Amino acid sequence: MCTHTVKGKIRNSIISIGDHTELADKLAIPGDAIYITDDNLAEIYSEFLADKKTIMVENGEKNKNLTTMDMIYDKLIEMGADRRSFIIGFGGGVVTDIAGFAASTYMRGIKFGFIPTSLLAMVDASIGGKNGVNHRMYKNMIGNINQPEFVLIDSYFLNTLPDDEYINGMAEAIKHLLIADKKGFEHYAENTGSFLDKKGKEISSFLCSQTKIKVDIVNRDERESGERKKLNFGHTFGHAIEKLSGMKHGFAVSTGMVIAAKISHKLGFLSSKDVETIKTTLVKTGLPVNFELPTNKIMETMYKDKKKHGDNIDFIALEQIGKAKIIPMKIEELKELFVEILIN
Ligand code: GLY
Repeated sequence: MCTHTVKGKIRNSIISIGDHTELADKLAIPGDAIYITDDNLAEIYSEFLADKKTIMVENGEKNKNLTTMDMIYDKLIEMGADRRSFIIGFGGGVVTDIAGFAASTYMRGIKFGFIPTSLLAMVDASIGGKNGVNHRMYKNMIGNINQPEFVLIDSYFLNTLPDDEYINGMAEAIKHLLIADKKGFEHYAENTGSFLDKKGKEISSFLCSQTKIKVDIVNRDERESGERKKLNFGHTFGHAIEKLSGMKHGFAVSTGMVIAAKISHKLGFLSSKDVETIKTTLVKTGLPVNFELPTNKIMETMYKDKKKHGDNIDFIALEQIGKAKIIPMKIEELKELFVEILIN
């Protein structure tokens, strides 16, 4: 078992990795908690959910919107949920984002916790208190930062996760290593195969060290006014590529990380050898490193990025493997660098 604490402004959040049956007692999960999950997981985990109050949303990013929130509020009222009720988001990142936002807003906020079932949600989405939904084509446009009481992480739930979803989550895990853990990255690069085994010996310690990277960053900057921005490494281009290509989030972030690594090299930081190592490691993981989209379309989409401020954007570069750097620059400047790396 492994535990970390997010020290939030409003409340602390306990991140516990271990056996879910033992942790349910330890974390004192209320027996009458309301589980928000999706239709896919409701079927897979019908036995686990059988004796629990459940609200089911439709699976998929396209349902992470205010229409789904509306349905959840109706169901909560129907169930007689009040200020003492407890919500649990049981699912991947879409579910935990929705459940956290529903709990944060219903009756001005009730208690909630997460049991993530995807690797992406375990290492990233469920930790740090970002809750919310998309608005039309804008990702995570409506939401808040509010820490869950707990995040209960059990690799047992990965057994039912499709392989491509596991690899999808691995992109965010590699991102953590690249921005904050050089030794961890080297170990991953040398032993990629064993990390790709969901039941392998590496997984428990991997989940523990991965969540620690995220928790440490959130503890230094919960509101994303500085260091937390480093978690956006690969996302500036990744989000645009995701939106335009329809690729899975992690897959798009993987191509975005290669672009960001190449630009870091162009800026005089990362060596070309390190850029190659990053690329090879992503390929070994089964992640894409190329995209086929027009440059102007990517830039157009980036102009709509909610993280930009005016004509400026905080570009996340790598100074070296394991060390990220926030570089404020004009979007035009970034565009020039992007074009240069595409030509070379
Ligand atoms: N997923 C990025 C963050 O939590 O800040």
